[in-house]
Amino acid sequence: MISYYVIQAAGEGRRHPSVFPVLQHRRENQTALKESVGQIHLRKQRTTKSRDQSWIVRRLGENMSSDEDVAAASRHIHFIGKKENIIQARRVVKSVGERDILVIYHQGDFYAIDVRCYHSGGPLQEGDIEDFDGRTCIVCPWHKYKITLAEGEGLYQAVDPSVKPLKPTWCSKGIKQRVHSVTVSNEDVFLTLNDSPGPIDSDHYQTEKYRNTFLKDGQKKTK
Ligand code: FES
Repeated sequence: MISYYVIQAAGEGRRHPSVFPVLQHRRENQTALKESVGQIHLRKQRTTKSRDQSWIVRRLGENMSSDEDVAAASRHIHFIGKKENIIQARRVVKSVGERDILVIYHQGDFYAIDVRCYHSGGPLQEGDIEDFDGRTCIVCPWHKYKITLAEGEGLYQAVDPSVKPLKPTWCSKGIKQRVHSVTVSNEDVFLTLNDSPGPIDSDHYQTEKYRNTFLKDGQKKTK
């Protein structure tokens, strides 16, 4: 999954309804929202510099057909910060909605991933970033699990004993860590939560129990 989008201006959506079609299904919302953010920022240059959530929702509302769509927008798109600040910081942890998310800038790309490791809740914001089998991964500092930044796949090495000489190869455990979309518009960075149905292992460490424990104790107790 490509996690870095540069949004192209979509033009005057209200004059050309095809640019912002009426949303018929929830699953179409994310694409429409990305387009909407692009338009929002064109208009923003001519109006106010406010970036609060209510402002985003108000502007999204201009291009949406129902209160339900606006409510969906407020749940999914979140302002993270100025692009140059995140590039400088390289890593930012934000509480977004009911999740704690790690936003990373690495070699020209932005990534967003649940901050606590799917294995046992390790603090991924302290992990090294390395390439394994040509894939960019964050390495959990607690037990060294490797997680691809773009997809949230758990990677591991395996050896087929029937093949001589023995040679370890990289394998995937599948998606283990929930990753989210990062949208860059003008100089602002937004995050769209991945609300795909079905549990992903890292969801376990986003429950209230773990959020409270980790936030209070600095993520050290359950190592
Ligand atoms: Fe991350 Fe164990 S908690 S590898």
